Amino acid sequence: EKRGRGAGRREGRRLRGRVARGAARVQRRDGRGGYPADGGLMDFAQSEERRMISDMVRGFAESVAAPTAAERDREQRPPVAEFKDFAALGFAGMTIPEAYGGQKLDDISEAIVVEELSRVDPSLGVMVAVHVGLCSMTIVLYGNDAQKEKYLPRLASGETLGAYSLSEAGSGTDAAAMSARATDDGDCYMLNGEKMWVTNGSCADVFVLFAKVVGHPDYGKKKHGGVTAFIIEKDFDGFAVGKKENKLGIRSSDTTTLLLDNCRVPKENVLGEVGKGFYIAMNALDNSRIGIAAQALGIAQGAYEAALKYALERETFGKPIAQHQTIGNYLADMATRTEAARLLVYRAAWAKQQHYEQGAPRHTLEASMAKLTAGDTAMWVADHAVQVLGGYGYTTDFPVERFFRDAKITQIYEGTQEIQRVVIARALTR
Ligand code: CAA
Repeated sequence: EKRGRGAGRREGRRLRGRVARGAARVQRRDGRGGYPADGGLMDFAQSEERRMISDMVRGFAESVAAPTAAERDREQRPPVAEFKDFAALGFAGMTIPEAYGGQKLDDISEAIVVEELSRVDPSLGVMVAVHVGLCSMTIVLYGNDAQKEKYLPRLASGETLGAYSLSEAGSGTDAAAMSARATDDGDCYMLNGEKMWVTNGSCADVFVLFAKVVGHPDYGKKKHGGVTAFIIEKDFDGFAVGKKENKLGIRSSDTTTLLLDNCRVPKENVLGEVGKGFYIAMNALDNSRIGIAAQALGIAQGAYEAALKYALERETFGKPIAQHQTIGNYLADMATRTEAARLLVYRAAWAKQQHYEQGAPRHTLEASMAKLTAGDTAMWVADHAVQVLGGYGYTTDFPVERFFRDAKITQIYEGTQEIQRVVIARALTR
């Protein structure tokens, strides 16, 4: 019997050895190139700090943004005053280090802020997401000291509002096909062209804008050859805001064209290296797609809550409609899908933080998965919220019709759902 126990222990040691060698093989094979890119686990415990942030933003959204949201939507009036009030709480600088006047939050908290704003007012949500993400964060990552000292404190305080301008009439999805050009003109670049679909276009003061530098050695050789990022101020000579789009949803968020007519941009305003702008544009989108995913998540949450409230109050056939099985099933699916999207959004935010702080692989894949899932979830949940409210859901007396219209854009901007699939498939098969 003694010999039997010894043999059992030896067998156990052998088995553990085999498992450890197998795990090492799996790690070597899948660890870095595959999915998940980080190979790590996320902590699901909600920290006290994050709870405070989420309560604070929810309080702001309900007391300051909600009362004007429907009216601004009707009048297509951007939430500039609401943004200034929000900035006074310190949130305009949530991606900017303290050294430049910011109050840098962790990346999951950043997503929570956009989610909570969008639960009430998706137009304010995207205004903030573009300001803190596409504009401020891109300057944090690629700006030189002088640029950071000049622009970041003003962006952090909310004194200036930021925007990002990549797309054009003929190049939305195919971003590298842009036709805006920059020519060397001594101490300046002279920019010409027309940009399109610029969120915050009419009210922003500072733009991270992309154009191709004509004399660059890669210009005309590589598809994105010469693409360069510039920091543009709204008062630069030759710069003007063009047409404002009349949109289906997020009508309180302004979307405009920008006109570059011999726009003189000092060379010191080149962001990063000349000719390396396409990488900056793509990296900025990796970061900001998480913001749009958070916006979509907020829309889903807001629409679900509105449907739940109505379903508990509205009675048919002698009981609240929530107690009818079909409506109960809708609510169950809305809540479940929203929660599933939330996990992907927070996970992408966490992967982004791992990338910048720990040098983990780029979060391109996680960001696109989160955006794809959250966008489709917002659309599905908002559609069902309208259905739960029936005829009332189809009127402007309830917020669900606005969520329904607002949800659609999350399947289109910052890369269509089709492009997210391209990005995901490329990352999985590279
Ligand atoms: N980070 C850094 N570099 C990247 C990158 C990333 N995520 N993705 C690609 N690159 C690099 C590649 O490595 C490649 O480098 P080399 O040429 O040196 O080898 C280069 O960029 C070109 O890459 P691709 O060949 O993959 O480029 P592509 O032309 O095939 O396009 C694309 C790729 C994914 C389709 C890209 O064009 C894309 O993302 N399109 C969608 C654009 C988009 O999301 N626009 C939204 C605009 S912002 C917005 O909506 C505004 C708003 O205000 C809310």
